[in-house]
Amino acid sequence: MDKKKVYVTRRIPSEAIELLEKHFDVEINPEDRVLLSGELLDKVKGKDAVLCLLTDNIDKAVIKAAGVKCKIFANYGVGCNNIDIAEATESGIIITNTPQVLNDATADLAWTLLMVVSRRIVAADKFTRNGAFESCDPMMFLGREITGKTLGVVGAGRIGYNFAKKAKAFDMKILYTDLTQNYKMEKELDAIFVDKETLLKQADFVSLHVPLLPSTAHYMGEKEFSIMKNTSVIVNTCSGPVIDEKALVKALQQGEIWGAGLDVFERDPAIEPELLNMYNVTIVPHISSATLETRTNMGLSAASNIIKVLNGEMPDNCVNTEVLK
Ligand code: 8YV
Repeated sequence: MDKKKVYVTRRIPSEAIELLEKHFDVEINPEDRVLLSGELLDKVKGKDAVLCLLTDNIDKAVIKAAGVKCKIFANYGVGCNNIDIAEATESGIIITNTPQVLNDATADLAWTLLMVVSRRIVAADKFTRNGAFESCDPMMFLGREITGKTLGVVGAGRIGYNFAKKAKAFDMKILYTDLTQNYKMEKELDAIFVDKETLLKQADFVSLHVPLLPSTAHYMGEKEFSIMKNTSVIVNTCSGPVIDEKALVKALQQGEIWGAGLDVFERDPAIEPELLNMYNVTIVPHISSATLETRTNMGLSAASNIIKVLNGEMPDNCVNTEVLK
């Protein structure tokens, strides 16, 4: 019997590919780039499953091109904003994602950005490499103290919780806001549930951990930045459009906040040009889950979802559960 066919839209860590190859006939995009929409339409035809990335636009045309043979689009990542989920559900195609496995890597990167911005590491590194270090200067590269300060966590889901947990080592007061209370976070981390305004007014560091929804787009805009402390730092590892990037530029230029650490951008991969020249901003190219361990686990999770679905079993991480009924 012919093996089932799986298409992988971009190279991912080899363990996941090896796992898929034990079961299926696997084809991988050989180019080190995102497929053009015409190429994607062509490649999904006749496949039983597709392992896709956030950078692939899985729209109605792609879903129709995949047709009835295709049982699953397994997204490599948590966010599924790249997929027309309603259309997939209508077509009876299962959509899965890879939650859990990237909680720590993402929380770690949020902490990395928080620290790098607060201690002005990028500028200090550049200064030292450029040979400008002549003597230790008591007023050189003064940053912001982290230990003992107030942390504001926006979104108390899996990643927000993991991020907050790491604040305990810094003796921080933890404030959080969300639509509902997270009692585990309160009990285990002494986190205090507050409204958005209180958090923004009181926090020394604000880290965003909400999914991108119509209600969270531009969650941070002019009004929000204006009420933050002018000594505060904002960190975004969740989703670019959660911040109104023009409002962020204005807030930084006017000194309404002290600094920003960004892994994601409103019009990703485009970045507001002013941000590129600001010394108090650290920007990285969407690398929150980019550790070999986590990217391998994301691949294994996506592969496992495909194996289960093509074997007629329930996948672990179905996003459109209606389709399973
Ligand atoms: C990407 C992410 O999937 O999980 C998400 O939502 O944004 C990331 O983990 C990853 O960068 C691979 O493209």
